[in-house]
Amino acid sequence: MRIYINEAKNHVGKTVEIAGWLYNKRSSGKLHFLILRDGTGLMQAVVSKMDVSEDAFNISAELTQECSLIVTGKVSEEPRSPGGYELHVTDVKLIGKAEDYPITPKEHGTEFLLDRRHLWLRSRRQHAILRIRAETAAAMRDYLNSRGFVNLDTPIFTPNACEGTSDLFETEYFGSPAYLAQSGQLYNEAAIMSFGKVYCFGPTFRAEKSKTRRHLTEFWMLEPEIAWLDHDGNMDLMEDFIVEVVARVLDTRAEELKVLERDTSVLEKVQKPFPRITYDDAAKILKEKGMDFVYGSDFGGTDETVIGEHSDRPVMIHKWPADIKAFYMKRDPEDYSKALAVDMIAPEGHGEIIGGSQREDDLEEIEKRLDEHNLPRKYFEWYLDLRRYGSVPHSGFGLGLERTVGWICGTKHIRETILFPRMMHRLEP
Ligand code: 4AD
Ligand code: MG
Repeated sequence: MRIYINEAKNHVGKTVEIAGWLYNKRSSGKLHFLILRDGTGLMQAVVSKMDVSEDAFNISAELTQECSLIVTGKVSEEPRSPGGYELHVTDVKLIGKAEDYPITPKEHGTEFLLDRRHLWLRSRRQHAILRIRAETAAAMRDYLNSRGFVNLDTPIFTPNACEGTSDLFETEYFGSPAYLAQSGQLYNEAAIMSFGKVYCFGPTFRAEKSKTRRHLTEFWMLEPEIAWLDHDGNMDLMEDFIVEVVARVLDTRAEELKVLERDTSVLEKVQKPFPRITYDDAAKILKEKGMDFVYGSDFGGTDETVIGEHSDRPVMIHKWPADIKAFYMKRDPEDYSKALAVDMIAPEGHGEIIGGSQREDDLEEIEKRLDEHNLPRKYFEWYLDLRRYGSVPHSGFGLGLERTVGWICGTKHIRETILFPRMMHRLEP
């Protein structure tokens, strides 16, 4: 009977077959200790000269790292074996050879590994990170689905910018320019007028020329949008959302977090309430800490790290100078120079993971904003219709999946949190 490694506990004392790859091997005279991996876990298989045919023993002697194989044997409990179970082998079949596998247990440089990303994925650390990514994405969907949000998918080809024109990827669309989506938000705003609460979750594109550890040119964004929700309600939602998602990953992916040697005590502190400080407060903190920061500008990566430093949980910075934020954000009724925008900064220097705002719902105001941002009115007529026909107060946010996973996993660079990272200098493999 063929089983997966993570099912071994149900088959103690039985003879089973496991199909996988050779992760590692030790040999001593009449014994070979094979460490198998099959995507669900690692397991030690012991090949003893006494228990297998001469052929099978010789095959075991020749097996090399990453060859694929099918092993038959009896399952037993073995606390010293990875996963707690061991296989006493009766037969070994080599399926696919792997000669001179380039990634060995020794240290390799990052560029070397990125060039071999298709193989690097098999390593334990990368496997753990991507499992956590999948769990994080599932937890986010479950949170929203269970609260009546409708998942709708917004287009990738767009005729105009959403988040500013400086980092658009342009392509040709039957003789006219088109741009890869920077965000699905504007389409979500149309959808909520039909569905009330929606979200989109998909790849977004930014021609980021920054080579920082927080920037990809293609990344996944989860964007909830909610009718009848104001700025404070938006902050309540993102806070509750993050608390639940982090708790779920801690609960279900403990094994992977251990592989990553992640200090989970810092994630356990992610509890409500998160500090909510205004942009002005954040600017004061930077001044006190002697940072070289100009009031009215956006925070840089180091600024975010410094602001996040004094808190053991994410920090929400809100009420931003309106002129450095997107055209669609609503002005603060208490201070017209500010926008009802909020960024959530992750602790431990992981930077901004969420950007959101209450949206401008007044037709005249939003028309003014389009002009101020030099955005061609003709591409936004449909968007203005949303303010012409039954406009409502509404809010939403966008969460960067890779930055969130990078924080949960404690990775130095977000390039490890996506299957095949796309960055300014990397389009391959
Ligand atoms: O703050 P941003 O630009 O917000 C928006 O796009 C809004 N339209 C979202 C909304 O309100 N529906 O981007 C949102 C998040 C950031 O906080 C960050 O986590 C991530 O997207 N992000 C990136 N992640 C990786 N690489 C990049 N180049 C990123 N740019 C933004
Ligand atoms: Mg932002």
